[in-house]
Amino acid sequence: MKLTPPVEVSNNQIVFDVSEIEPILQAPQMKLPHWPEAMIPLKDGRILFIREAKLEEVPEMLLYMEKVMKVQKDFFDIVGVRVYAEILGWARKRLKDPFTLVGLIDGEWVGLANGRVMTEEISLSLHTMAFTRRGRVGWAMYYAKTYYAMEILKAKEWWSTFESYNGWRMAGIEMAQPTKPWPQFQHELGGARVYYLDQPLWENVKDYAFQMIGSNFNFEIPDEVRKANETFHIPAKVDL
Ligand SMILES: CC(C)(COP(=O)(O)OP(=O)(O)OC[C@H]1O[C@@H](n2cnc3c(N)ncnc32)[C@H](O)[C@@H]1OP(=O)(O)O)[C@@H](O)C(=O)NCCC(=O)NCCS
Repeated sequence: MKLTPPVEVSNNQIVFDVSEIEPILQAPQMKLPHWPEAMIPLKDGRILFIREAKLEEVPEMLLYMEKVMKVQKDFFDIVGVRVYAEILGWARKRLKDPFTLVGLIDGEWVGLANGRVMTEEISLSLHTMAFTRRGRVGWAMYYAKTYYAMEILKAKEWWSTFESYNGWRMAGIEMAQPTKPWPQFQHELGGARVYYLDQPLWENVKDYAFQMIGSNFNFEIPDEVRKANETFHIPAKVDL
């Protein structure tokens, strides 16, 4: 849109450096505490190691998500394409205060859990994915980010929604999450219902990992586990 200036001006143009535009497009970041790293034995004996994703891993993660988004089964396609955008949004600084956790077994990327801090009171779950099936990796990943939001960030509320039956069962049902009135409250993932935990509800589901996966998280990581997971790599094939 253009209008004639209502007064004489000395310069007809004001030029911006893009570095001056960036602070306006990029939300100011909160100083989020780090996820402390955790491990949990799965029912089949494999050890799942959960740590924060690293920005240098983004190209490989995107490469793998390009393949996952083509899997037209169990909603891997819609979740895969949205996770691709979220990983890129984190790398390109176009998400407000995201957190991205990866689950590794011997360095192989087998699980993802991400979310973001909406306000100091409310944190949002974005997505959970498991790239090796039947191990309940997804359940451990969802529990990890819920723990991060409720125990470490000390959010008053944790908002989730579910695109898939497996996701709804894993967290909506098994954490007995109530919903907010709909359509007054809508999750940013397509305007779906908001399922939530507040601090009293979270107190009731702290045993979730033990009940559903068979063990609790261990935050003391032995050297051999850290060493086994030193080199991040994506699975050689997509077998979902
Ligand atoms: C939802 C999700 C994270 C759950 O993680 P997970 O429990 O580690 O993953 P699985 O899909 O292997 O297991 C979920 C259930 O699916 C069923 N299932 C999985 N693979 C199966 C197979 N090959 N044959 C039969 N049933 C199978 C089982 O009932 C299983 O439950 P169980 O643990 O009681 O055996 C995972 O299914 C996933 O990544 N789905 C696609 C993305 C998605 O929907 N994310 C959630 C967004 S709301």
